[in-house]
Amino acid sequence: MKAIIGGTGIDKDKRFLDGTEHIVTRYGEAYYTVLDDIVYLPRHSPGHSVPPHMINYKANVQALVDLGVDSVISIYAVGSITRRLSPGRFGLVKDFIDLAFSRANTFYDGSTREVRHVPFVEPFDRKLGALFARTAVESGYSLAVDSVYITTNGPRLETPAEIVAYRNLGADIVGMTLGTEAALLKEAGIRNAAVAYSINWAAGLDAEGISFLEDESIERLVGEIMSIAVKTLSKL
Ligand code: HPA
Repeated sequence: MKAIIGGTGIDKDKRFLDGTEHIVTRYGEAYYTVLDDIVYLPRHSPGHSVPPHMINYKANVQALVDLGVDSVISIYAVGSITRRLSPGRFGLVKDFIDLAFSRANTFYDGSTREVRHVPFVEPFDRKLGALFARTAVESGYSLAVDSVYITTNGPRLETPAEIVAYRNLGADIVGMTLGTEAALLKEAGIRNAAVAYSINWAAGLDAEGISFLEDESIERLVGEIMSIAVKTLSKL
């Protein structure tokens, strides 16, 4: 089984909203829809009702494990810190820095008495990412590659000084969810390719303050990414 995890903006896609099923895992409950052998999991729950720092990431990932999912394309709305992935574009995430705190972010939390340190030299599945990139190019789209995502705790947005610091740390894009989710997907042994799309310049980089893409531009981007993601997964 294959899955798409969608977040801000993309979870308005009707595949995340229609016929949502409910599952109770050992870590709590999660929601999803299955259509043509693909599981659609709205990261923030139906109706985008849970903020990033309150998401039950372990329940979401355990739901995928319980449903027999082995391959995931995870999709994230982000702010741009560098020009590697500018607002209005999408691309693959190569690596991440995780600054989130006070979240249940590991399956090896001591409760099972198993001490494990999963290697993260390759946080994402290279082959699945390459297949997504090839499918995007075949469909006539260009995409950014090799972005580094920094995960903040949120829900507040960053200060300009924080964004300068994050750029100096090597981050290209900023968001509030990927680090936690990607860590759990990898610990669970699920192949994961992460796709980010940028909806704004991060704090301090835009003379206007923070301005987000118009709804129509977001809808177009989200439509493109979803069609590429579905095509990619159907090739597996
Ligand atoms: N910061 C954090 N998360 C985000 C942003 C941002 O600027 N844009 C979209 N998600």
